[in-house]
Amino acid sequence: MNPGKKVVLSAVQPTNSAHIGNYLGAIKNWIPYLDLYDCLFFAVDLHSITVSQDPEELRENTFRSIATYIACGIDPARATLFVQSQVPAHAELAWVLTCASSMGELSRMTQYKDKSQRHGAHIPTGLFTYPVLMAADILLYGTHLVPVGEDQKQHLELARDLAERMNHRYPKDSLGGESPLFQVPEPMIGKVAARVMSLQDPSLKMSKSDPSPGACVFLNDSDKEIEKKFKRAVTDSGSEVPAENPSPGIQNLLQIQASFLDEPYDQVLARYVGKQYGYLKVDTAAVAVEKIRPIRSEIEKLLGDRKYLTKIINEGRLAALSRSEKVRNEVYKRIGFIGH
Ligand code: AMP
Ligand code: TRP
Repeated sequence: MNPGKKVVLSAVQPTNSAHIGNYLGAIKNWIPYLDLYDCLFFAVDLHSITVSQDPEELRENTFRSIATYIACGIDPARATLFVQSQVPAHAELAWVLTCASSMGELSRMTQYKDKSQRHGAHIPTGLFTYPVLMAADILLYGTHLVPVGEDQKQHLELARDLAERMNHRYPKDSLGGESPLFQVPEPMIGKVAARVMSLQDPSLKMSKSDPSPGACVFLNDSDKEIEKKFKRAVTDSGSEVPAENPSPGIQNLLQIQASFLDEPYDQVLARYVGKQYGYLKVDTAAVAVEKIRPIRSEIEKLLGDRKYLTKIINEGRLAALSRSEKVRNEVYKRIGFIGH
């Protein structure tokens, strides 16, 4: 924890276990910030109920999310870890920002367009307003930098637009001067594996909700399951890795391996040019197994120690409460709400 430094904030939904897209596209990239910035990471349970959740599974997955952060290397002594629903200002600011957003801009969100298609005539309203809640998460803490996968870039742009709109609308601060209400956040998107694709259909991003059984490699998959999923990964009708423009399925495997090994993509590609696809699948599986194994066992160990996890979550909650309430009160005062 580095008070006074730039604020870095990010989150993952506590739905299922995290997958390698969450790890390589997001969580792994948070680690270098721990010593440099004031870091906040949390489990967004309010976001996860945009689609229906089994209560027992949601409880378990919320503990699992916090355990996953810690097992992936997010040291709770150097970051604030918390659970979104325990900090009421998230929902409170989300309402204020809902009133500052327009139907038009929310309708343009590609994640909404994709996800709403699956719901036919009964699209949950929460799927539509989801990006506003995410903007509230970010703006509540004066966040400078948001490390996320590429799929979240458009949501980040909305958060920036809302921050600027509110700053313009409410320039006068509660001390009688003029100052920006919100810090305008910047996205930080990794260069490698910013978008990990499904192993069954490389035109789709790897997603927790993908019904196809081999599409997604979870951090709680066994060694055998991981090997099986990579072996069955869909590539294309060719047989050898070409030097130029490999197909999306091959690129995805190369990216995954490069990201796990922290190696440049071109270097990994060079190792496989002219070789049968099978080598790339087997090696990528082996790398994934080696890297996931210690994380998986640490997650299970932490899940067995609820007392410790609860202590971390409670400490995070207290820190997040006091920080977020200050910002919420300033917002309420500028808007004209009394008594804050
Ligand atoms: P979610 O699972 O939707 O809560 O996503 C949590 C974080 O993981 C966000 O920063 C996403 O951008 C990132 N993420 C999710 N899926 C992928 C993916 N397939 N590839 C890369 N990053 C991803
Ligand atoms: N919407 C993000 C996702 O699905 C999760 C999220 C919610 C988030 N609030 C956030 C990410 C704030 C970064 C910052 O991936």
